[in-house]
Amino acid sequence: MFFQNPAKTFRPALCAAAAVVVALTAGCTAPDVSTPQPPTPDTPSAASAAAPSAGDPWRPAVHLSAERNWINDPNGLVYENGTYHAFYQHNPHGNSWGNMSWGHSTSTDLVHWTQQPVAMEASEAEEIFSGSIVLDKDNASGLGSAGDPPMVALYTSAYGKGGARPAGIQAQSLAYSLDHGKSWQKYKGNPVLDLAPSSKNFRDPKLTWYEPGKYWVMTTVVADAQVVKLFKSTDLLHWEFLSDFSGVGAQGGLWEVPELLQMDVAGGGNDNGSGLKKWVMLLSINPGGIAGGSGMQYFVGEFDGRKFTAENAAAPGAPLSDSQWLDYGADFYAANSINGAPGGKPVLLGWMGNWDYAQHVPTTPWRGAMAVPRELELVRDGGRYALRSGIAGAAAEALGRAAGGEVRRKDLTVAGSAEPGFEPLGGDFSARTQLLDVELEPGEASEAGLVLRGSADGKRGLRISYERGTGTLKVDRSEAGTSNFSPLFSPYHQARVPLKDGKVRLRILLDSSSVEVFTPEGTVAITDAFYPAWDDTETLAFSRGGRAKVTIASTRVAS
Ligand code: FRU
Repeated sequence: MFFQNPAKTFRPALCAAAAVVVALTAGCTAPDVSTPQPPTPDTPSAASAAAPSAGDPWRPAVHLSAERNWINDPNGLVYENGTYHAFYQHNPHGNSWGNMSWGHSTSTDLVHWTQQPVAMEASEAEEIFSGSIVLDKDNASGLGSAGDPPMVALYTSAYGKGGARPAGIQAQSLAYSLDHGKSWQKYKGNPVLDLAPSSKNFRDPKLTWYEPGKYWVMTTVVADAQVVKLFKSTDLLHWEFLSDFSGVGAQGGLWEVPELLQMDVAGGGNDNGSGLKKWVMLLSINPGGIAGGSGMQYFVGEFDGRKFTAENAAAPGAPLSDSQWLDYGADFYAANSINGAPGGKPVLLGWMGNWDYAQHVPTTPWRGAMAVPRELELVRDGGRYALRSGIAGAAAEALGRAAGGEVRRKDLTVAGSAEPGFEPLGGDFSARTQLLDVELEPGEASEAGLVLRGSADGKRGLRISYERGTGTLKVDRSEAGTSNFSPLFSPYHQARVPLKDGKVRLRILLDSSSVEVFTPEGTVAITDAFYPAWDDTETLAFSRGGRAKVTIASTRVAS
């Protein structure tokens, strides 16, 4: 039996403040981890991989989830010898947050995952919070050998009774694997990094190799102080403080799961076409995200080996829309990059959840899924650099292969008056899991778009639309199925997207209980979970206030 971890205390505190205007809601209750839960078997095999069915209607077909029980943040993402490893926050004994351990799944294509045995299990003395993994290929840590270098994990020890620090304290610890991630040994000198005085909110170590200095940089947070702390090490065991990053961007919640990345500017960046590189700080915030609750902001700037300096960053207290957001939906959090992923661009895995309501979503016996792995590009957008997200190349290829390459297409014009007009697209477009490439030309319509997982008349369903007057792309899940599990399950999310030649192009991945909308020519992505009725499978085009044109290509990825 474990205690309720203080890592989460800021959430209830902020919720309590919100209760002045809103009665204390289900979404604001603290994680219920105080009750011991009977162990449930957690040793799935590839052969038993579950698929969506009428009895388990929201089980993802092409996203990582656990066969049973709770998951949140991805941790320790690493690519080795053709295998992607995803470790993640996991409760092996229950369907809500608690007993935090590292679960483990592997994949060769970033779409189909095989769950492995739990990698590091919580004990009463120590829960295993978020962190990251590197391949220590030169055996700088000395924990392996030159011929058999170790995988090294840095993770947060969240101490309980009888731990190396008083209960409630968080510090950074190390574990290593000499068998390619199958089994893990904790380093005997743990923790390898603590603050003086210790903190209850010091967590989420992510490692970045800094080539000019030939050392690793660790980014961590003091979550409730909204500070990122940077450290360096040449052996992964001894860490030296470098600098703090704080005082910019959205501040309305805990800062969590930071990552510092160096990226090429797409298209060269320099006037002479040569390769310009910039540094990017990814940072999760909860609550206080752009869509309410959990969200991910980022900063672009320079890193000199010691200090990260953001350029053109929003001032604290500025409207949230001044900050830069990796996703404008409600369900993209704690993403970090897969160390060593091929392809030259950062490949991120994020948790498709929101602390506002994640503990209440109506799925069982599993809860929580990862977003599709996405690759990032750094582009020039107006006066500043911005990140463009797309489905990672390997994942996009795997999704295409899953369908045997079959793509169904339709071009249509939809008429609409003050009341929207709906055009059902029929059985070819009715898969519960499909990849859609859409070109939308609103023309004279005030609003036009698609209804996914709809009823035949289009009244129910998830709406993805473009509003011409405001220039916004909107995902509306208010009529898209079960939503009464939490009053904090927000109805719709939107972002400004300029039309290009009167059109907006969208790439949409629909799965059993999620939608991810990307703008291949823009910098907006919208990721939302939703819980549709099993029998609502219609795809419809719709238009309001005039005629709109829709071109749609669907790759059926699963039934
Ligand atoms: C983010 C987070 C991390 C922490 C982990 C605990 O979602 O709160 O800061 O390490 O989850 O599960």
